Amino acid sequence: MGKNLLSIFDLSKDELKSIIKRAHELKKEKKEGTENTNFKGKSIGLLFEKLSTRTRISFEVAINDLGANAIYLNPRDMQLGRGETIADTAKVLSRYLDGVIIRTYGQERIDEFAVSSSLPVINALTDLGHPTQIIADLFSIEENGFNIENFKLAFIGDGNNIANSFIAAAAIMGFDLSVAVPKGFEPNSDIIKKSQKLANSKIEITNDPKIAVKNADVIYTDVWVSMGQENESNGKLNVFEPFQVNSDLVSHANNDAVVLHCLPAHEGEEITKDIFDRFEKVIFEQAENKLHAGKAVLEYCFGLF
Ligand code: CP
Ligand code: NVA
Repeated sequence: MGKNLLSIFDLSKDELKSIIKRAHELKKEKKEGTENTNFKGKSIGLLFEKLSTRTRISFEVAINDLGANAIYLNPRDMQLGRGETIADTAKVLSRYLDGVIIRTYGQERIDEFAVSSSLPVINALTDLGHPTQIIADLFSIEENGFNIENFKLAFIGDGNNIANSFIAAAAIMGFDLSVAVPKGFEPNSDIIKKSQKLANSKIEITNDPKIAVKNADVIYTDVWVSMGQENESNGKLNVFEPFQVNSDLVSHANNDAVVLHCLPAHEGEEITKDIFDRFEKVIFEQAENKLHAGKAVLEYCFGLF
């Protein structure tokens, strides 16, 4: 039975843990060169309405590694690009494909696709969330030696899709999360409310990055201007300056804290060059882990575990 992954809230704690456990196994299998053709004969579409380097390419490689056929669907080459509805597109693609991975703007676009489609639908980023990124990141955090059910994450920067998905993940997995954002750039209020109600752990939203990083095991940052917000970037850089991840801020976290970044990075904005260089190995391993976690997500959505 196929399952959608539209939001982190679609997963229980046990499901999230199983996906991450499977990601460890799949990484090991890849390094050992073990062939895994669980998806032989399947065709999986990748419909990306925004740019992507990591998510799209890692999913394409994951699909190929699993023995399936990856089909990149450029909306500009499809009738979707000249007004065919999402619902009709979903119904038609359901007749050809076995699954679809979608990156788009409003969450309502992917939700609408999923309602009209009989395929497993995987969210590869919307304005609201980036669930597959957060799954890969929890895998990386575990690899770095932290207990993902009991650690503290500080998210510093814009209250964007990544922040929203971490808030949901903290509620489900039970880790402490402190999100530091400038006033007016808070994460989605419905997600905060729902998560704080659900959580046994501490989920805090602050405007002070030093409060957020206190006792943090992991400091996480992301671009200050997300895709689709380019027109709103005027003046934003000044407002965000105090939220830069630099050596002073990192010195207020735990001594063994690691810095993660989903990439792409804008050195000199959300992260300084020296901090990026210091944690480069961890950050690029984090990017690699999207491949292994992506396979685990595919297996989960296709009902293989
Ligand atoms: N981290 C991430 O989602 O990167 P891409 O935008 O390159 O896919
Ligand atoms: N918040 C960023 C994440 C990119 C992976 C964006 O939406 O552009």
